[in-house]
Amino acid sequence: MEFFLDTADVKVIREFKETGLINGITTNPSLVAKSGKDFKKILKEISKMIKGPISAEVTAIDCKGMIAEAKILSNISKNIVIKLPLTEEGLKACKILSSKKIKTNVTLCFSAAQALIAAKCGATYISPFVGRLDDIGENGMNLIREIKAIYSNYKNIKTKILVASVRTVDHVIESGMIGADVVTLPPATLAKLYKHPLTDKGLKAFLDDWKKTNQKIL
Ligand code: G3P
Repeated sequence: MEFFLDTADVKVIREFKETGLINGITTNPSLVAKSGKDFKKILKEISKMIKGPISAEVTAIDCKGMIAEAKILSNISKNIVIKLPLTEEGLKACKILSSKKIKTNVTLCFSAAQALIAAKCGATYISPFVGRLDDIGENGMNLIREIKAIYSNYKNIKTKILVASVRTVDHVIESGMIGADVVTLPPATLAKLYKHPLTDKGLKAFLDDWKKTNQKIL
């Protein structure tokens, strides 16, 4: 399973790149607004650091506008993936871009039916938002199970399941158990993957005992 970092903060990306865990980046307009920086400059900087896919979202709401924006965003770097909303216009744009071999990430997916039509339009990635479904009392991970079941029935579907709106370590574990292709993680959630209280406790005990030996490795 690949890990993408869900942020537009270049400093944070630089820091987390060191972990060796980052296969790509996803951004969205809210994350760009949070960064307070120029979108195109952000994308340029990220592309210097990350060789994997970098999702950049269009802001037009009509197909023609989306295609025009996609052209500009794609020119920034060859690893830019065009992020499109799961609307009728977004999927028209997805069909056009995929016919031109431009990679797409169809976002704001909240149902298996939406995921199915995105795949039929040639989406490279589908982004179901699990946390936001949990927020309204549904089970976000059930959506991932449904999409996986549908996509697995058809060999010609190449669309990758990119689990988004990930909030917890359990979302990551379940994504792996279901066989999702990618999870995009907020930096704080990625940091939590290292943590277990027994690791801290065990390490402390080992180091305390080591001290008693009066030995040194170096
Ligand atoms: O990048 C889209 C997605 O991951 C958003 O997450 O936490 O705003 O629901 P969230």
